[in-house]
Amino acid sequence: MSTEPSSTTPTATDTVPAPRFGVWLIGARGSVATTAVAGCAAVAAGLHPPTGMVTETTPFTDSGLPSLSSLVFGGHDTVDCPLPKRAEHLAAGGVLPHGLPSAVHTELTAADREIRPGGPLPGRDDDRTTDALIDTFAADLTDFVRRENLAGAVVVNVASTEPAPPDGHLPPSSLYAAAALRAGCPYVNFTPSTGLHHPALSEQAATAPVPHAGRDGKTGQTLLRSVLGPMFLQRALDVRAWSGTNLLGGGDGAALADPAAAAAKNAGKERVLADTLGAAPQGEVHIDDVPALGDWKTAWDHIAFDGFLGARMVLQTTWQGCDSVLAAPLVLDLARLLLRAHSVGLTGPRPELGFYFKDPDQGASSSLGEQYAALVDFAGRLRGRS
Ligand SMILES: NC(=O)c1ccc[n+]([C@@H]2O[C@H](COP(=O)([O-])OP(=O)(O)OC[C@H]3O[C@@H](n4cnc5c(N)ncnc54)[C@H](O)[C@@H]3O)[C@@H](O)[C@H]2O)c1
Repeated sequence: MSTEPSSTTPTATDTVPAPRFGVWLIGARGSVATTAVAGCAAVAAGLHPPTGMVTETTPFTDSGLPSLSSLVFGGHDTVDCPLPKRAEHLAAGGVLPHGLPSAVHTELTAADREIRPGGPLPGRDDDRTTDALIDTFAADLTDFVRRENLAGAVVVNVASTEPAPPDGHLPPSSLYAAAALRAGCPYVNFTPSTGLHHPALSEQAATAPVPHAGRDGKTGQTLLRSVLGPMFLQRALDVRAWSGTNLLGGGDGAALADPAAAAAKNAGKERVLADTLGAAPQGEVHIDDVPALGDWKTAWDHIAFDGFLGARMVLQTTWQGCDSVLAAPLVLDLARLLLRAHSVGLTGPRPELGFYFKDPDQGASSSLGEQYAALVDFAGRLRGRS
C-alpha cells in the first residue's frame, strides 16, 4: 500500500498554516515606517530586489529568519494620515518608486487597519498615570498578536526623535519600550530617543526575558564615520579635527530643528569618533532643517589630519542619500533578526547588532568591519538552534 498521501488526504502543510510574525512600528505613519511596509510588500511580491537588506545576503541563508511574506505590520502613531496616502506623498517626493503605492495598496491598507492611537496626547492623556499608559500600549500589542493569530511580534521605534527627558520623567519612547517588555515582545530602538536607556528601566532592560537592541540606526554620515575612523587609526594618521554638516527636510528634519532633539542625535554621531579614535577630535556636527529637500539628505564631512613629518592634509566627503530608503531595509533586517533571536530563546541587550546602530549596546565594537564580523557570527548562532 502506498504511503504517499492521496490528493484528498490533508497533509501537514495543508493543515498547519505557516507562522506569521508581527512588526509593531512606533511612529507607524512616518516616512521610515511607510517605506518599510511598502518595501516589504514590494520585495515579497518580487517587484523589486532586496537591495540594502543585509539579511537577504548569503551569511543569513539558513538562519531561520521569518520570511518577508510572513510579516504583518501594525503600530502606534499620533497622527491619522492613512498609510496609502502617506505612501503617495513619498512617491510624489521620489522616495518610493512611481506606481508602488498602488501596487501594494492592499498591504498598506491592511497595515493601516492595525495602527492604534499613540500618545501621550495633551488633553486626552493628561490625567493618566505612566503605568496606565504603558498598560494601554501593551494591551494594543497583545490584542494585535491575538487578533492576527501571530507567532510573536517585535516592537520597532521609528517615531520622531524626542529631546532628552527631564530627570526622572519617562518620555514617550520609554513608555513604549516598557510596554514592549510588559507584552513580552522583543524591542528595537531605531531612534536616538531614550527608549530602554532610562535609569528607571535599566534593571528591566538588563534582565529582560526578550532580546532588544538599539539605538539610532546608522544609515549615512555615521556609517561612513565608522569606516573612516578605524582607517585613520590603523594607518597611524593623526586626526586633528572632524566637522560635519547635514541638510535635510521631511518630518525628521523638522523634529531635529529643535536644538534639544538635534543634541540627542549629534551625541551619537560624535560618540562614534571618540570610540574609534580614542578621543573626540575638534569639530562639531550641525543639522539644518531644509524643508524643500524632503527626505533627501546631504551630509558633508571635513577631516583635517596629519601625516608623516607633520604634513597637513584634508579629506572631504559628500553623502547624498534618501534617508527613509536607507533606513527601511535595516528596520526589516532588525525586525527579522530580533524575531528569530526571540524564538530561539536569546534575551537581553544584543551588542551583536551594533552594525546597525550609532550608539550600540555595551560590548559592541565601534568599527564597522568588526561589527559586521560579529553580525555574521550571530547569523551562525541563529542557524545552529532549532
Ligand atoms: N536614515 C533615516 O531615516 C534614519 C536613521 C536613523 C534614525 N532615524 C530615526 O527614525 C525616526 C523616524 O524618522 P522619519 O523620517 O520616519 O520621521 P517622520 O517624522 O516621517 O515619522 C515619525 C512619526 O512618528 C510619529 N510620532 C511622533 N510622536 C509619536 C508618539 N509619541 N507616539 C507614536 N508616534 C509618534 C509622527 O506622527 C510621525 O508619523 C526619527 O527618530 C529618525 O531620527 C532615521
